Amino acid sequence: MLPAAFARRHPGAIGPEFAATQVESHFVATDSDASTPAPAGDRAEEVRNCLRAVVDPELGDTIVDLGMVRDIGVEDGDVVVDVALTIAACPLRSQIERDVVGHVRSLDWVRNVEVRVVAMDADERAAVMARARWKAREDAPETAVPASARVLAIASGKGGVGKSSVTVNLAVALAARGLVVGVLDADIWGFSVPRLLGMEGDVEARAGKMVPLERRVGAGTLRVLSMGFLADEEQAIMWRGLVLNRAVQQFLQDAHWGDLDYLLIDLPPGTGDIQMGLARLLPRTELLVVTTPPVAAQKVAARAADMARRGYLRVTGVIENMSDFTCEHGTTYALFGSGGGERLAHSLGVPLVGSIPLHPDLTAAGDAGVPVAGADGSELAAVFAEMARVVAEEVAPLVDAQSCSARLIERVEAAVARGEADAG
Ligand SMILES: Nc1ncnc2c1ncn2[C@@H]1O[C@H](COP(=O)(O)OP(=O)(O)O)[C@@H](O)[C@H]1O
Ligand SMILES: [Mg+2]
Repeated sequence: MLPAAFARRHPGAIGPEFAATQVESHFVATDSDASTPAPAGDRAEEVRNCLRAVVDPELGDTIVDLGMVRDIGVEDGDVVVDVALTIAACPLRSQIERDVVGHVRSLDWVRNVEVRVVAMDADERAAVMARARWKAREDAPETAVPASARVLAIASGKGGVGKSSVTVNLAVALAARGLVVGVLDADIWGFSVPRLLGMEGDVEARAGKMVPLERRVGAGTLRVLSMGFLADEEQAIMWRGLVLNRAVQQFLQDAHWGDLDYLLIDLPPGTGDIQMGLARLLPRTELLVVTTPPVAAQKVAARAADMARRGYLRVTGVIENMSDFTCEHGTTYALFGSGGGERLAHSLGVPLVGSIPLHPDLTAAGDAGVPVAGADGSELAAVFAEMARVVAEEVAPLVDAQSCSARLIERVEAAVARGEADAG
């Protein structure tokens, strides 16, 4: 690394022409006196300013604002830039290097540019991700999902691990706690939520917006939107990625969700368009990653989690499905091995939210359209009730909206009172 003192020892004159293109106005002001040599510190600052044009395409912010530009060393026309990447093996590494070199070279006093790449440690990476998430939130478009609702997307790397079963049963178990729970079936091609919940019907429009289908569960309510309510299940849906993405967008923006406590989103398998679209549209979405015990499944789940991190979605917990099987004689078999969920949760640094046994009732209930979570007294209902408790009390508790808005009103009143006092 080049210490600042080194840079200061090598001041050079600033040419009058550079200022117009690359740097901010305070440099423009200095060029009226071009004969004064600019300290190298200013040149380093100039380099830093021009690097504000380099955007990390994954994180959607400039490498300067993301804190990825570390030291900048300047010696005459030679510039050395230390860039910290989230991971050294970042696939965008060469693109970022190229952009850095290209931009710095556009300064007319620059002869040589060297980029030195370092990898961030875990804490630095977490800070960058937090900033990227915050930025994404600032830039996110409006949706019809109330700000107070916790948004949990159920994700996995591959299909058939039980995402949809988990989504509907967790939704039922949360609603049974007296909550209003939205269910968005974002598996546009392979929707299965209507069948699993035994709900059918056509979505109606009110004032040009879709009205989710509603169902009471105990003291709570489910509000459900799915392609299944817009098209026959038999009907092949041949939309392209862009249009699919827009379907989820419409479900989020052009729907009357009303007041929700939770919105659960059943994602299609993998890490494709829908996930990225969701990251853009509703970046406060948190992921619950479903995995089955086999190590292979664990790896795909980890890949999904990694992708989510890049799309700024936060992973909030892991759910292990088909964890073990108890036969009618009471013997328990770990058919697919055991501990996969726990290991994945540990490696992601998040809690294991629950483990669901492999149970034939789950398949049967899905086929019958009667979620097991609603069957009072059953073993599976107890599993989902406990999972709902962990979600609502530990992993993703609701913010106390009442006291929040009360505090907010207090503050507004205080500010108004101050304003009046000032004016008077
Ligand atoms: N714990 C379980 N025990 C038995 N069958 C299960 C379990 N979880 C899911 N299934 C069955 O596995 C199949 C795939 O589940 P599904 O929820 O549709 O997965 P995904 O949405 O990930 O594709 C369904 O037939 C479902 O009934
Ligand atoms: Mg599914």
